[in-house]
Amino acid sequence: MPPADIRLVRVLPEHLDFWLALRAEPTSRRFVSSEEDSRESLLKRLMEASGEVTQPQAKSFRWMVEVQGQLAGTVSARELSRTHGRVVIGYMISEAHQGQGVCTRAVGLMLERLFALPFLQRVWLHTLSHNAASQAVARKLGFTHEGTLRAHVVHDGERFDQQHWGLLRSEWRGVPAR
Ligand SMILES: CC(C)(COP(=O)(O)OP(=O)(O)OC[C@H]1O[C@@H](n2cnc3c(N)ncnc32)[C@H](O)[C@@H]1OP(=O)(O)O)[C@@H](O)C(=O)NCCC(=O)NCCS
Repeated sequence: MPPADIRLVRVLPEHLDFWLALRAEPTSRRFVSSEEDSRESLLKRLMEASGEVTQPQAKSFRWMVEVQGQLAGTVSARELSRTHGRVVIGYMISEAHQGQGVCTRAVGLMLERLFALPFLQRVWLHTLSHNAASQAVARKLGFTHEGTLRAHVVHDGERFDQQHWGLLRSEWRGVPAR
């Protein structure tokens, strides 16, 4: 059962150091590319994703995850297409807070905000095929494994399969209960 007090917080420039430290943790490095981890490029990405989902031109969104007032991770949505009614999401939780249901709840809270957009029909994500924790999160939220792109990604010099998972509006069951 996740801790009771999990909140999504709008990103601010002062979250940059936390995000850099999170991305440098061994679990994150194992599954997320750190190619673009300069302060400048991450700050630019933070600020580009700081808007509200209701802003008509906005395509990228990020929130920090707080657990009992402490920064615990981040969830994001990008490439929002109003034409196709779809968006791709990502998530990362600090090792100190993993394995407690924090990510499932935080992504659920993000999905609730995204599906408030009436045109949104599909949310999808991709994960390395050996990222079992990420797949467990997707499964718990009702996503379907839609396919595997073989040998699609090079990570740390090694080539991996990549899974694609999708959730349709009609399949969204709401934020999982605590
Ligand atoms: C993926 C990640 C965000 C999950 O965060 P979390 O807060 O621990 O997630 P939750 O606690 O909500 O759920 C994790 C689920 O994964 C399962 N899990 C964890 N490690 C696992 C493993 N090695 N094999 C199988 N399942 C595993 C847990 O049992 C749990 O499922 P359960 O509730 O049914 O028991 C976190 O591990 C992380 O930040 N990893 C590095 C970044 C990353 O991989 N991001 C996703 C990129 S696609």
